[in-house]
Amino acid sequence: MDRFIDTEFARLGTENMVEEMAKTETKMYQFNGVWFADTNVQEEVLLRMPAWEARSEDAYVVSYPKAGTTWVQEIMFLAMNNADVERTKTGHTMLRIPYIEANIKGPKLRHSPPLKALLMLWYLLKVMFRMLLFCIKQGQMPVGISPLSMARILPSPRLLKTHLPFQLLPPDIMKKKAKIVYVARNPKDLAVSYFNFHKWMPMIPNYSSWDTYFDDFMAGKLNYGHWYEHYLGFWNRRHEENILFIKYEDMKKDHKAAVTQICDFLGYTYSEEILASITEHTTFSSMKKNPMTNPDSLFPRKVTAEKDNTSFMRKGKVGDWRNYFTDEQSKALDETYKEKLEGTGLQFDF
Ligand code: PPS
Repeated sequence: MDRFIDTEFARLGTENMVEEMAKTETKMYQFNGVWFADTNVQEEVLLRMPAWEARSEDAYVVSYPKAGTTWVQEIMFLAMNNADVERTKTGHTMLRIPYIEANIKGPKLRHSPPLKALLMLWYLLKVMFRMLLFCIKQGQMPVGISPLSMARILPSPRLLKTHLPFQLLPPDIMKKKAKIVYVARNPKDLAVSYFNFHKWMPMIPNYSSWDTYFDDFMAGKLNYGHWYEHYLGFWNRRHEENILFIKYEDMKKDHKAAVTQICDFLGYTYSEEILASITEHTTFSSMKKNPMTNPDSLFPRKVTAEKDNTSFMRKGKVGDWRNYFTDEQSKALDETYKEKLEGTGLQFDF
């Protein structure tokens, strides 16, 4: 894919949009019983999902947010591109791999001071110009600038990202037997990673404290709803030939084995040397220092986040939940874990 958006360009957005983005108010709403943040996923987009045309050669990385999506998608991208690290430099991972239902609602230009509004307008025009160039090179006319329209014109085999739960997944994906790599993570580390993400990501609400956030996590009142409903939707279909269900903790335990498993599942057989090179490119430290894989270089951040120095590539560990959960919170989540997962065969390392 072409270098249609680069980090220099993203930085421009970061510098000029951050304050305005932070002011953008998020409304939470329910769609078919699942909570969404309208600044990230709008109802109009969810309503269009059933009509999404999948292709049998497609591959999708699917997850509840913060389960290890970015890690898995980078492995899948390399697997599907001959392990050619040079190709990963053609654009940021978040842009090489369209996140199909995301439609980021930005700040309202008319409410901004004229100079800021002008800079934001310039930023938007630059996005549109780059996308137009990209579309022309693909021999297509653009139908919009949403990730969905970008995804529509990508050549096969496409690699796409979604956080949609199984019941909201476009049915054509299963009908065409497009490949799905589903990644799940122990819910305690998931909760902590998601909490930190809320601190700096402008498109989802602010939380005044871990305790307030924890109540919403337990109630499933976060963007994409309850973690266990999401996990079970895919776990219960893990035996379908087009689904690979993997766990973050297993990937941490044996990264190279996970790379091999993902490549095999996608139908690519590589030498030990190539598998080692994919593994090396996708370690936490490699991805953190690479501006094309570290989402920090791409997103405007909440102003408050600068003080906390929170990064998207935060810790990348198993067990950080111990630094956040009180004994009472840990017990409450243990109870939900037992109630929802008992008898399903789904278990995690903590
Ligand atoms: S998102 O926003 O839903 O796409 O986030 P997602 O990528 O699913 O999750 C982000 C967490 O994954 C960690 N991460 C990694 N861990 C280990 N190795 C690699 N290569 C890696 N890449 C990303 C990232 O640090 C986030 O976890 P926390 O616990 O917050 O550090």
